[in-house]
Amino acid sequence: MASRKPLIAGNWKMFGRNTDLAEIGVLAETIGPAVDKIDVLVCPPAVLIAPAAWQMRGKSLLVGGQDCSPSAADAAKTGEVSAAMLADVGAKYVIVGHSERRQNHQETDDLVRQKAEAAILAGLVPIVCVGETHAERAAGRVAEIVSRQVKASAPGQGGGTFAVAYEPVWAIGGNSTPTLSEIGDVHSLVRETLTQQFGGQANETRILYGGSVGPKNAGEIFTVEGVDGALVGRASLKASDFAAIILGHPAAV
Ligand code: 13P
Repeated sequence: MASRKPLIAGNWKMFGRNTDLAEIGVLAETIGPAVDKIDVLVCPPAVLIAPAAWQMRGKSLLVGGQDCSPSAADAAKTGEVSAAMLADVGAKYVIVGHSERRQNHQETDDLVRQKAEAAILAGLVPIVCVGETHAERAAGRVAEIVSRQVKASAPGQGGGTFAVAYEPVWAIGGNSTPTLSEIGDVHSLVRETLTQQFGGQANETRILYGGSVGPKNAGEIFTVEGVDGALVGRASLKASDFAAIILGHPAAV
């Protein structure tokens, strides 16, 4: 079995100001050497990526974007930020296809795939988000939805060039998560789907869980077979909470 370095990513969403970048220093200090065993990523709003990268200089923390343009080349596209621009200011990763973008900006699987491919071209690692809604789960359609999203949104290249985040839409921003066995089932389904697409290279792709991960439940989620880390929303905003999540990973000790 491939050994995949865990990845724990914080998605600040549309929260944070310059003053909140101080949390990054506190985070680095609190997690100490765990950062060598786990890839720790902070994805602040676009305007804070450059100062966040500056704040992280000399530390092993990683900074990433929350979205990017599907266009690889510079273009007359008002308001868009390209993956190359993110890389230029120090980003190493970018989240693509988050459900808040799929829902609020009508992003399709095909658009998400184009964004993931633009990210790879710019030297970034895209984190491709997938996940079912509450209604889809209630209708027994989890496998159908998640495998369709993985097949159609994953970039054309496999392996460690990208990561997948399984984020059930209904688990985001609330207090409920799937059971550990449900999380395990979906993660193995994602791995199977990637294997159909990419063969053995699929063993190198990290699959994260996201949706209401916090200091209380992260430790048990990390014990689930096939969970290679987490994509954390609210609990990534406070360094103490995010550090507790990271230190709760078995690889941190
Ligand atoms: P919460 O951790 O706040 O539920 O958000 C999850 C998420 O959407 C991360 O991308």
